[in-house]
Amino acid sequence: MSSTQSESPSARGNHPALRSCWHPVAYAEEVSEAPVPAELLGEPLVVWRDSGGAAHVFSDLCIHRGTALSLGTVDGDEIVCPYHGWRYEASGACVAIPQLADPTRVPAKARATRYEVVERFGIVWAALEDPRLPLPDVPELESEEWRTVSCGPYEWRCDASRQVENFTDFGHFPFVHPGLLGDPERPVVPAHEVRTEGSVLHYEIVRPEAPNTDDFPVFANVETEVPERRSRYELHLPYTIVLRLGWGGEEGMLYLFASQPVREDRCKGFLRIGRNYNLEQPDEVLRDFEDVIFDQDKRIVESQRPEQVPFDLAAELHLKFDAVAVAYRRAMRAERLAL
Ligand code: FES
Ligand SMILES: [Fe+2]
Repeated sequence: MSSTQSESPSARGNHPALRSCWHPVAYAEEVSEAPVPAELLGEPLVVWRDSGGAAHVFSDLCIHRGTALSLGTVDGDEIVCPYHGWRYEASGACVAIPQLADPTRVPAKARATRYEVVERFGIVWAALEDPRLPLPDVPELESEEWRTVSCGPYEWRCDASRQVENFTDFGHFPFVHPGLLGDPERPVVPAHEVRTEGSVLHYEIVRPEAPNTDDFPVFANVETEVPERRSRYELHLPYTIVLRLGWGGEEGMLYLFASQPVREDRCKGFLRIGRNYNLEQPDEVLRDFEDVIFDQDKRIVESQRPEQVPFDLAAELHLKFDAVAVAYRRAMRAERLAL
């Protein structure tokens, strides 16, 4: 019995249009001398970096005998298969077959499948077909004045759409993250509106929040109620969120969250957090905080059925404070990224 089927009876497969979107596949810092395996939309990939520092993403399959190239090595500007030592260059072309008596006889068919790749914001992004939507602009993550921390990545047994939706969900804060992100005494979701511009949803909210705790002094506010936190969101379809937090002054935080659609029932959340204050604070403080938050969400979201967001509005019950979830479903359909 196929384990995927038995575990996820209600997952319906990834929409083909997702192949032509950028998705995160690795943190840039993870990809150094050794090739790194990844999976995107059910496709096994290998991420590797050549001697000039450029990242490459190939199908994780040697055409000779189907061996995983991610088990191999990188030598200069070539990735070397671990089984018989065939060498592939950045274009995907095989440039050396050690078993050949005449090294010039490498057949043109000997190729690895290469995919679109771009490295930005400390993340390697890949697209399986020509990407039709751009990455967001996040100048904070490219500024000298901001310090950036990588968290996770957070691997969940659900579709990327559920992980993204959870990141947009306001109603759960007092229940799932009491004392950390929400105040159980104040569960009412403040009014907010969503403005959809093509493939980007914009919305913002000013909400009461929990005070900074002694364990996790990560935010720039000191007290519970004043100042309040203003959160400005951009949700870039299909699975990327840019969140800017402010407390009315110069101090700000920037969250870039992108969920990698590993398969229809698996995802991996990449989170880069920038801040322009507390610059001396060790990265672990923020990382440990996010690990706690994401762990609290994980068990809830992994329990949701179906594993993928049902994009038909009739499928779940939406109230006014679920405005983002409704707009997300509409926009994903309008942009033909979901059925
Ligand atoms: S399987 Fe890769 S070189 Fe033979
Ligand atoms: Fe949460």
